[in-house]
Amino acid sequence: MGDDVRAEIRLADGADAAVIARIHLHSRAATMPYLPPQKRSPEQVTRWVEDVLLKECRIWVAVRDALVLGYAALGGDVLEHLYLRPDARRQGIGTLLLDEVRRHSPHGVSLHVFQQNTDARAFYERHGFTVLGTSDGSQNMEHLPDMTLRWTPNDLLGSERRGGMTARTDWQAWHEPYADERSPLSRRLRLVRQEIAAWLDERPGERLTVVSACAGQGHDLVGVLAGRADAHRVRATLLEYDPGNVAAARDAAGRAGLANVAVERADAGRLSSYAGAVPADLVLLAGVFGNVTDHDVRRTVAALPQLCAAGATVIWTRTRRTPDLTPALRGWLRDAGFVERAFHAPEGVLFSVGVHRFAGTPHPLDASEELFTFVR
Ligand SMILES: C[S@@+](CC[C@H](N)C(=O)[O-])C[C@H]1O[C@@H](n2cnc3c(N)ncnc32)[C@H](O)[C@@H]1O
Repeated sequence: MGDDVRAEIRLADGADAAVIARIHLHSRAATMPYLPPQKRSPEQVTRWVEDVLLKECRIWVAVRDALVLGYAALGGDVLEHLYLRPDARRQGIGTLLLDEVRRHSPHGVSLHVFQQNTDARAFYERHGFTVLGTSDGSQNMEHLPDMTLRWTPNDLLGSERRGGMTARTDWQAWHEPYADERSPLSRRLRLVRQEIAAWLDERPGERLTVVSACAGQGHDLVGVLAGRADAHRVRATLLEYDPGNVAAARDAAGRAGLANVAVERADAGRLSSYAGAVPADLVLLAGVFGNVTDHDVRRTVAALPQLCAAGATVIWTRTRRTPDLTPALRGWLRDAGFVERAFHAPEGVLFSVGVHRFAGTPHPLDASEELFTFVR
């Protein structure tokens, strides 16, 4: 392809809305016959392009002889759409658009594709995308099984999958809003701490074991134990991959005199990392479910009986940003043998905090299993 691909790529604006809408509709009708019939008129789709797509995404169009041949819409690091006129396929136009998107994505690009869309999957695989996860379609509008693909620039690949973490988010800086007690993150922390304290108060005098996955700087558990005279009865393992956060959590535990709190630099996305730390009476999963694929959320929930002692409590958090996974997540917890004790979903913020009690029988740890990989 390459040299003979004659098309220019430019940023789209409002004047392109109608043609983008037409391409969107024609391309979907021509290449994805399994989609439910389109109910929106071209005018309604044009309004959606103007009011939503152009506001939330950067859109590039491929143009030849003043004719728009295709468009790509990038929202954050997610390639939301890449559609071509049906008669402009197989000419390298998709590659030109994808290259433009990748030029503007120094940390990589994710996208969702229907599992049935074998042409698109082959196209993205040729361009170095790999599968991050699959889902049964319960979370997309079309209710069709889909998959999440991701491309990472070569220079990041070395760190990308190390420890099941991505190189994109600065996880130390992520903790900064804790310094502002009015921030949503601080509000979430207060709820998590309140639930940890209640869990301890309900078990006076008992010796208890805690494991915290992706523990960050340990603000939740260390914060609670630091203020309690009975902290010595808790043996805790904090699993965290970012070295700076590991150091900060160790420092906080050390300053609070918590000799029974171990902070381990480990990949919490693998069950092998939990050997020796479980079964636990309290499993903390704060800031995990919002950073992994739906498939991995489900996989992690299904594996929780391997982390839990009989009667254990799991405290978890998850954003309720649309599409809100929490109804499905709470159902998966029920299916895995958990009884809901609390679900905090405060108004005006997107986070939620759930508390579940394990009513099933603990399972032995299968150290070969994987739970999740961060996608942020
Ligand atoms: C959203 S933060 C949550 C931190 C903490 N639980 C909290 O709520 O304050 C996610 C943390 O997970 C860590 N992380 C990401 N992938 C990980 C992995 N595979 N294993 C262990 N830690 C991981 C990040 O470094 C980051 O500190």
